[in-house]
Formats: sequence, C-alpha cells, structure tokens
Amino acid sequence: MKLSDIIKKRTSNSKFIDQKVDSSLLVELLESAVYAPNHKMREPWRFIVIEGEHKKALFDRYLDSLNEELRIQQEPLLNKLFSAPTLIAFVTPQNKDLRDGLEDLEAVAMLIQNFLLLATEAGFATSLKTPMYTETDKFKDVLGLNPGEIIVGMVMVGYSDWEKPAKPRKSAASLTTFYK
Ligand SMILES: Cc1cc2nc3c(=O)[nH]c(=O)nc-3n(C[C@H](O)[C@H](O)[C@H](O)COP(=O)(O)O)c2cc1C
Repeated sequence: MKLSDIIKKRTSNSKFIDQKVDSSLLVELLESAVYAPNHKMREPWRFIVIEGEHKKALFDRYLDSLNEELRIQQEPLLNKLFSAPTLIAFVTPQNKDLRDGLEDLEAVAMLIQNFLLLATEAGFATSLKTPMYTETDKFKDVLGLNPGEIIVGMVMVGYSDWEKPAKPRKSAASLTTFYK
C-alpha cells in the first residue's frame, strides 16, 4: 500500500476483537518508529507495553489507590482504555527547558504517528488517548515512571473486524497560503 493510502486508512478505532497481539511484533514496529526526527538526537522517549495479566493487575492497583469518589468517576474511563488487548505508554523525560521541552513533545508526537502508520500497515487497529488521569502521580507510579517522566500518550492496540472510515478533513489547499 502507498504511504498516502496508509495515512488515510489510519483511524482511531477501538472496537477490538478478542485476539491477542504479539508484543514482539509491536517492538519491531517501534524499532522503525524511532527513526522520527528529534532535535540534537535527544531521542526523548521510551515505551511501556502492557498486556495480559499485567493489564488487569495495573488496572486494579491504580483503582485501589483512589478514594471512592475518584474510583467511581474514573472506573468507566479506565475500562475504556484497558479494553484494548495491548496498551503502549509513550513516555518522555519532561525537559526543564521550555523550548527543548516543546521540541521533545513534537519528536514524540512524530514517533507516535510513525508507530500508528506502521501498525495500520501491519493490520492493527489503534487509538491514541490522553486521558487526564495519566497525568496523575498515582497513575505514573503504577506504571513505574521515573521521577520527571510524563506520558505523552497511551496507544490502544488490537485487531478489529471493522474498517472505520476516515473522518473527512478540510482540504489542505483551502488552508494554504502561497507567496509566489
Ligand atoms: C494528542 C492527541 C490526543 C488525543 N486524545 C484522545 C483522547 O483522550 N480520547 C479520544 O477519544 N481520542 C483522542 N485523540 C484522538 C482524536 O480524537 C482523533 O485523532 C480525531 O478525532 C481524528 O480521528 P481519527 O484519528 O479517526 O482520524 C487524540 C488525538 C491526539 C492527536
């Protein structure tokens, strides 16, 4: 498939079928995704792959750490995210320098898109999520983040029997200014 077709084929699809994902295949995709541009080769990323029994254990550990009010509020949101056969947390060290920090986020975003496209090409369904609870110390602690690290995004990965159509976009030509 041409790259332009893969780009249009990728959609946020979290209607997964009950089929396990081979996590070594995901690591292979990440090995290509890391060729994303990144300033000064800081390579500001690492990945946490969560699947199988660990998914349930982390889910329970996080919910158990919350008071009742938060648990009631967050459990449905958590159920949604953890319904994916596999989750990948894209983690970056929070850069103290504002400009470098923005560049690092841009680099991780590019890496995530690389991953989403490669996963689409490999036949996976994916969905990128940034729920607010992933910014909490409790959630980061449960995932084993080091001090100063943040989660840029959580990607749900699985197989789907639904080919979700792309949402239409404004034409790029209508958004382009030419100086010529
Ligand atoms: C940085 C970022 C954060 C996102 N966070 C969420 C999220 O928390 N929950 C969600 O349902 N979708 C999230 N999305 C997915 C967008 O809603 C989705 O990409 C958009 O609606 C376009 O649909 P498509 O991905 O199917 O093309 C996020 C996308 C980006 C780029």
